[in-house]
Amino acid sequence: MIFDLIVRNGNVVTDEGEERLDVGVRAGQIAVLAPNLADAHALKKIDASGKLVFPGFIDAHTHMGIPIMDTDSCDDFESGSVAAACGGVTTIIDFTVHQLGQTLRESVQERLSKAERKSHIDFALHVNVTDQSEQRLGEIPTLIEEGFTAYKVFSTYRQAGMMVTWPEFRMVLRTVHRHAGLLCLHAEDNDLVEAQTDQNIAAGHRDAIYHPRSRTPEAEATAISRAAEIAEELDASLYIVHLSSRAGLEAGLRAKERGVKLILETCPQYLVLSEEKYLEQNGYHWITTPPLRTEEDSEALWQALADGHIEVVATDHCPFTSEQKECGRGAFHLTPNGLPGVETLFPLLYTYGVATGRISQARLVQVLAKRPAEIFGLAARKGTLAVGADADLVVWDPAATDVITADKLHGNADWSPYEGLKISGRLNYTILRGEILVEQGEFLGDKVFGNLLLADV
Ligand code: URP
Ligand code: ZN
Ligand code: ZN
Repeated sequence: MIFDLIVRNGNVVTDEGEERLDVGVRAGQIAVLAPNLADAHALKKIDASGKLVFPGFIDAHTHMGIPIMDTDSCDDFESGSVAAACGGVTTIIDFTVHQLGQTLRESVQERLSKAERKSHIDFALHVNVTDQSEQRLGEIPTLIEEGFTAYKVFSTYRQAGMMVTWPEFRMVLRTVHRHAGLLCLHAEDNDLVEAQTDQNIAAGHRDAIYHPRSRTPEAEATAISRAAEIAEELDASLYIVHLSSRAGLEAGLRAKERGVKLILETCPQYLVLSEEKYLEQNGYHWITTPPLRTEEDSEALWQALADGHIEVVATDHCPFTSEQKECGRGAFHLTPNGLPGVETLFPLLYTYGVATGRISQARLVQVLAKRPAEIFGLAARKGTLAVGADADLVVWDPAATDVITADKLHGNADWSPYEGLKISGRLNYTILRGEILVEQGEFLGDKVFGNLLLADV
């Protein structure tokens, strides 16, 4: 057999462990995984001796170019996908933006027009629902049949017109569940958030540190508990995005213990950063929702990640430049909220998870590849190193060291929330469907061939 590419002598890491294997790639798929393809013919061979070979990673939560507070997050699908590839991410799952008066299909078409022929990596979409009328909910069954199986609602952001009330949440969940889709929830109790925010602003407390004091762990926990009760009543699965706090986690675990089918996601910012960032001179740069928390919160999240209660780590990539953030200086409630993260997802999780012994390599593959692929219906092709899967590969040198600095990153943000953090390892290659996108830190993608992924139904 002649291969297009062979990645030789690497330690292949799967959700089960590590094995020394060669990977033979043909027509964009993994054709052979075998101990010795030394004598096989290939158009190109990569020597991965001493390196780790991972499946391409999935970032299940990104917002490329979304409108927030009169501006748009600064990465579009082009710059964001280059950044993703340079961090080992070969699939992103982005969110539609459901504007007032739009059908869900129009919102899907609009997002597709921003992604198609722009994204250098494969992408899928979660469908945001901000209007729960019969007509809009009536679109969901057909969209699910077509492979748009994941939906998203917010229990906050009332003033931005994005919030669902709990009765509305129940209606969306019932529809999505009936048609075997999956609903994702941004869980914060809006009444608590608005009351705390108003109180702080009225008292003249407008600095960045009042962001976590307005959007509290209690607000997260209250919303998770309420949503879990509704999911329990409907016997529906529910995916909680960007879990940030110990209190929120405990609310989720209480529900899971009584059998509620909650799937929990967290993000690197809640694992490696803390709310002390808000006290720095440019603390408002770190304003994201939910806010950064304390080290105790992070430790609880790491533990839940290690023991399997948190099943996905994704980034909530929603970057703004320092100029865009500027309007939030001294006014936490006016700052466009969100952080860059897609390029640093895997390096951070490897360094602060695997290299510190908090999680195993196999667990990292589960939360960054295998589980997101399974949960969002992409597992036939993505999230695994197996014969017949897409040849999405990451070659990582665990012996190298690096430091995160904004000038080395590839997105449009001119700053990084992780500036100066040390990284244990360095990315050698990112390969999408057998094509080399990144080699020794350099992005090579001269053609744009990211595809829309539809979920298996
Ligand atoms: O602050 C954030 N995370 N902005 C993006 C929208 C969201 O809530 O996920
Ligand atoms: Zn959110
Ligand atoms: Zn988000």
